[in-house]
Amino acid sequence: MIKIIEKYKLGPGMNFALLDAPLIAESAEPGQFVIVTIDEKSERIPLTIADFDRENKTISIVFQEMGKGTHRLANMQAGDFLYGVLGPQGNPSVIHENKDVIIIGGGIGIAPVFPIARKLTAHGNRVTSIIGYRNKDYVFWEDKMNAVSSSLLIATNDGSYGEKGFVTDLLKKEIESGKNIDEVIAIGPPIMMKAVSDMTREHSIKTIVSLNSLMVCGMGMCGACRVTVNNEIKFTCMDGPEFDAHQVDFNELMQRLGTYKNDEQKCFEDWQEENNGC
Ligand SMILES: Cc1cc2nc3c(=O)[nH]c(=O)nc-3n(C[C@H](O)[C@H](O)[C@H](O)COP(=O)(O)OP(=O)(O)OC[C@H]3O[C@@H](n4cnc5c(N)ncnc54)[C@H](O)[C@@H]3O)c2cc1C
Ligand code: FES
Repeated sequence: MIKIIEKYKLGPGMNFALLDAPLIAESAEPGQFVIVTIDEKSERIPLTIADFDRENKTISIVFQEMGKGTHRLANMQAGDFLYGVLGPQGNPSVIHENKDVIIIGGGIGIAPVFPIARKLTAHGNRVTSIIGYRNKDYVFWEDKMNAVSSSLLIATNDGSYGEKGFVTDLLKKEIESGKNIDEVIAIGPPIMMKAVSDMTREHSIKTIVSLNSLMVCGMGMCGACRVTVNNEIKFTCMDGPEFDAHQVDFNELMQRLGTYKNDEQKCFEDWQEENNGC
């Protein structure tokens, strides 16, 4: 059982939780994730390790309420116990040294880019962070991202905070400014990662994305997380979650993510009804 030490809302439908997880905190690295189970019957929810503190033996997760699993998790409070947290799973981010790196986080994807940006900066890289939100109500972790970036650029879709537009608009400006860019790392909705990948491919800029494919076991046994990378089948949980963006079949990824949409919706509605909409 894993205790929730702290839990609060970061914005509409967005939650932060600090977990007492000494063994995971001890070995976690940026880029890795955990599989959370709420009780013995609940589904398994893969979530990126948004932060870890080896001294205090804690890890942080940041999650968006999507369906039944994440809504149930959002209803839990500090002091509650999770049935299980498996991890750290997946391969850590590959961190180079002394490079010019652009880090891109979209929405909830800003949380997983934070530890990557922190480690890149600690290894002497010059990190330009571009983060994008729907509007000003969704802004979170601006201060944390600022602390680990050489420069921080912010966009909101409606222009209510930072520049109006998408992260790709800001990326385009950075590319057109002619400054050196050794690598781009992007985490966010698949459609955003695809748009970043399409843009950087044109300029031959190496780009890494972290894939959020459907996952069940998280340890290479079920095949649910199958993705096509460079025309080969890969398992996101074992071979990823980070891949060379220019080799990822994003259309297949997005199509597979929607496979169970109707069942998920029905499951969520049934659960809401059983719980009087809470
Ligand atoms: C490696 C990895 C890291 C992730 N990190 C985060 C994170 O840090 N924060 C965050 O908010 N979300 C993250 N996700 C996505 C998160 O796991 C899903 O939003 C969650 O599982 C949805 O469950 P649900 O029961 O609430 O929704 P459901 O109603 O079951 O599904 C809603 C949608 O979420 C996706 N989804 C459903 N089940 C899964 C599953 N088992 N695995 C992956 N996607 C699923 C599908 O697109 C689905 O249509 C991550 C996914 C992966 C694979
Ligand atoms: S989630 Fe089961 S093989 Fe990857």
